[in-house]
Amino acid sequence: MNILGIETSCDETAAAVVADGTMVLSSIVASQVEVHYPYGGVVPELAARKHIEVIAPVVDSALRKAGMSPRGIDAVAVTQGPGLVGALLVGFCFAKALAYDLDIPWVGVDHLDGHIQSIFLQTPSPPFPFVALLASGGHTNIYHVTSHTHSRCMGQTLDDAAGEAFDKVAKILGLGYPGGGAVSRLADSGDSSKIHFPRSYLGKDAFNFSFSGVKTAVNRYIQKHPEVLPDGIADVAAAFQEAVVDVLTDKVIRAAKKTGCGHIALVGGVSANSRFRERVGKAAGRHGMTVYAPPVDLCGDNAAMIAAAGYRYLSGSGAVSGALDADVFPRSPLRGEI
Ligand code: KG4
Ligand code: ZN
Repeated sequence: MNILGIETSCDETAAAVVADGTMVLSSIVASQVEVHYPYGGVVPELAARKHIEVIAPVVDSALRKAGMSPRGIDAVAVTQGPGLVGALLVGFCFAKALAYDLDIPWVGVDHLDGHIQSIFLQTPSPPFPFVALLASGGHTNIYHVTSHTHSRCMGQTLDDAAGEAFDKVAKILGLGYPGGGAVSRLADSGDSSKIHFPRSYLGKDAFNFSFSGVKTAVNRYIQKHPEVLPDGIADVAAAFQEAVVDVLTDKVIRAAKKTGCGHIALVGGVSANSRFRERVGKAAGRHGMTVYAPPVDLCGDNAAMIAAAGYRYLSGSGAVSGALDADVFPRSPLRGEI
């Protein structure tokens, strides 16, 4: 089954063709970084306008790269939420109209589930049950995943998401937006032991996260020690990254132990971070657990993960198409309760 995935929840216009929920035939991601860069963050109205401009060419190039005409597509999967409503609506309406025109089923996908399902776009993929840590710009959630269609949220951030903390620290350090990649590249050449930033564990058995404290600590440190810039900037980045990675690693390992899972999936934009992968890999090894992460280009927002999730919904529900009057949702039921 060839599924065309479409993703426009935030500042990336993405389309992909995935065969049988696992084989990526094409994945196109058109970033809007240059549109939002001057504002230091995503401007919702501008995001929606840019999606409108590029959605048709992006879908077209995903089909061409997959060597497929629209008639070769069996179904369309599109992000229904969570995200910016104006941005979501562009992909959502486009997908419904395309499916209607081609007379094929379409399905709305939860973006967070898309990130979880991205772990099946590579081999080997984890067997069920496993624990997934979704760390991105909008979320830091731990899930106990028992099947393609069932996952329980065990914990989430109470304030900033991990990626958001990276972005804010990048801003404090003058590295621009979005800054996760820039902070981690800088951290590679820094010494994390020179500065100690606080780790917030929220109690011994807690699975929720809080990253606003460490971000504030970095800000305060820079104000108190302006001389650290520019020469000591790499040490600040490394010390910050280590504080975040310590907490993420501790919680995901404890979640796996608590649920008796021997398999851990790291998904979302922050899972592109090599120090994070390395630390969880080492800790998991000590406990006889196995760690999985998508290829780096499928960690951040993309449409292949949406197609993969759509495949599971459609193959599990007998290819029932979505209703044409369905609407997008700004918040996800997969977020869990605080
Ligand atoms: O999954 P994603 O593309 O979008 C959301 O769903 O939010 O994640 C984007 C986030 C941004 O906050 C970005 O700074 C962060 O992932 N990120 C990283 C790295 N690469 C991207 N954070 C830390 N280290 C990285 N190498
Ligand atoms: Zn995302």
